[in-house]
Amino acid sequence: MKRKLTLLVILCFSICRQLAAQDPLLVNVYNRDTKTLNGKWHYIVDPYENGYYDYRQEPFDKQQNPSNNAYFRNYKPKDKTELVEYDFDKSPTLLVPGDWNSQEEKLFYYEGTVWYKKSFDYEKAKPNNRVYLYFDAVNYQADVYLNGEKLGTHKGGFTPFNFDVTGKLKPRDNFVVVKVDNKRKREEVPTVNTDWWNYGGITREVRLVEVPASFVQDYFLQLDPNNTNELIGYVQVGGEQQAGQKVQVNIPALKVKQEVVTDARGYAPLEVKVRKVNLWSPENPYLYDVNLRVNDDVLEDQIGFRSIRTEGADILLNNKPVFLKGISIHEENPQRGGRAYSEEDARILLNWAKELGCNFVRLAHYPHNEHMARMADKMGLMVWEENPVYWTIQWQNEDTYKTAERQQAEVITRDKNRASVIIWSMANETPVTPERTAFIRNLIAKTRSMDPTRLISAALEKHNINATTSTVDDPLIEDVDVLSFNQYIGWYDRLPDALSKTSWEIKQNKPVIVSEFGAGALQGLHGDKMERWTEEYQEYLYEETLAMLQKIPQLRGITPWILVDFRSPRRPLPNVQDGWNRKGLISQTGDKKKAFYVLQDFYKNFKLKDKK
Ligand code: GCU
Repeated sequence: MKRKLTLLVILCFSICRQLAAQDPLLVNVYNRDTKTLNGKWHYIVDPYENGYYDYRQEPFDKQQNPSNNAYFRNYKPKDKTELVEYDFDKSPTLLVPGDWNSQEEKLFYYEGTVWYKKSFDYEKAKPNNRVYLYFDAVNYQADVYLNGEKLGTHKGGFTPFNFDVTGKLKPRDNFVVVKVDNKRKREEVPTVNTDWWNYGGITREVRLVEVPASFVQDYFLQLDPNNTNELIGYVQVGGEQQAGQKVQVNIPALKVKQEVVTDARGYAPLEVKVRKVNLWSPENPYLYDVNLRVNDDVLEDQIGFRSIRTEGADILLNNKPVFLKGISIHEENPQRGGRAYSEEDARILLNWAKELGCNFVRLAHYPHNEHMARMADKMGLMVWEENPVYWTIQWQNEDTYKTAERQQAEVITRDKNRASVIIWSMANETPVTPERTAFIRNLIAKTRSMDPTRLISAALEKHNINATTSTVDDPLIEDVDVLSFNQYIGWYDRLPDALSKTSWEIKQNKPVIVSEFGAGALQGLHGDKMERWTEEYQEYLYEETLAMLQKIPQLRGITPWILVDFRSPRRPLPNVQDGWNRKGLISQTGDKKKAFYVLQDFYKNFKLKDKK
């Protein structure tokens, strides 16, 4: 019965996604042959959006005959008399992928519009193939134009989007123009105040994806959480002739060769009986080769199969209790001091987590690039992915909710086949009001309808009952699978000597993850353990916090704040912060602080059975 329900909710998700999306998001372009548009793009900084609005503040792209000065036209003067006041090809270049802040000193603090332009030739491999222009992410709003025609707009700095450009490309001299605007706005997600750098730009990869006339557009294939002898999910055919298509699902190592036929919408549910699955886990990060075929389209993927669920206060991975030895991570390459985006960046960050002894990472506070979950699949790290519903979101604003929900849908669409991803986090430290709780409850319902196979959490806030007792009192506790919260006793709340005097009163019989604790330390600054900013203070706080948290009977995981120092405009203290949040266990030059070894030692010796 439960399985039928699971399949039903997956069907609902697929239907509402089809109805809602203009250009449905292609899944697993990661493994497709694509033409990359990475590299140098010409750019124009446009703080007054002079290339978007005419002098009466009317958008050029809404006009029948827009001026030559509408930048999206990439217009060149026909003769020496014509007036044109921009020229992409004579303008400087930025590298894509990459934020503009860390590439160009003049743009370090810039928040506003930058126009990007890339010219390219394109010959289709087969005349009736389809072509999509796919962006891994642009922060924050992207208005995209191809050969002078508007393709559309996307909002949200951390999730992929694509446009169907079939029939819009020429063999030579195509040009794509992207208006990127990273201005922070009250009604956006995240809102205006965050404790991280607002890196702007085409921050991740851009590619052209060519597929056959009908192709594997989307699929979901995961172990049924309630039956490890069955894979559940669906496949969605895109393009032409979606209905009545035969789709083969092959998993050679499981001797699975299953054929399904799509319905009128190109959709087919999957129920694949399997035996003796080599279950994915951190100790055994086994990935199966899976290929899906429809007509000429063959799409390969590497998928791990595991189950994750809770039972009372336990988190069960493949039906065995697990303790999540985690660390929080921002998407930043510290040495470059900019947005992380590459496989190499992912390797650096996740190798540090492995060196710490982690089996779990919290990718804060927004969806990271696709390399992170794919590399976590291979390295054997479980993952917490988070929607940037952070702090004071505009809870009553309908459009704000739609923006939050769409970003959640986009990251689930992209990563729902990644075994490493075990928790979808809805939010971080959001002030408790009826509107906020309704907003997040809607997100939870939507997430469960999209993906019934994973756990849901959110970083809730703690409350001090009195000087020695703390608790978590939040209506969302009833809605989440895992009760998570951030606490900073010893840093923002009293001093580290308060930690040994504090006990926690948590009544719910649910797994608890302490999703943040930490202290700032300038790497190399030494002194008394009560002296702020010394490595000794941070070390002492970690020792005392770990001792305190172990007394919480339901504790099943921690993700201390944070792996590496990261840039933040909220941290100006000269000669200590200098624009960096110093709570990292590693400095931005890659040097470990003393607290790194406290946590490493704790993970090496901690055994869940000790908790009972
Ligand atoms: C908060 C918040 C983080 C922030 C951290 C800090 O809990 O969740 O985004 O960086 O505290 O103040 O360092």
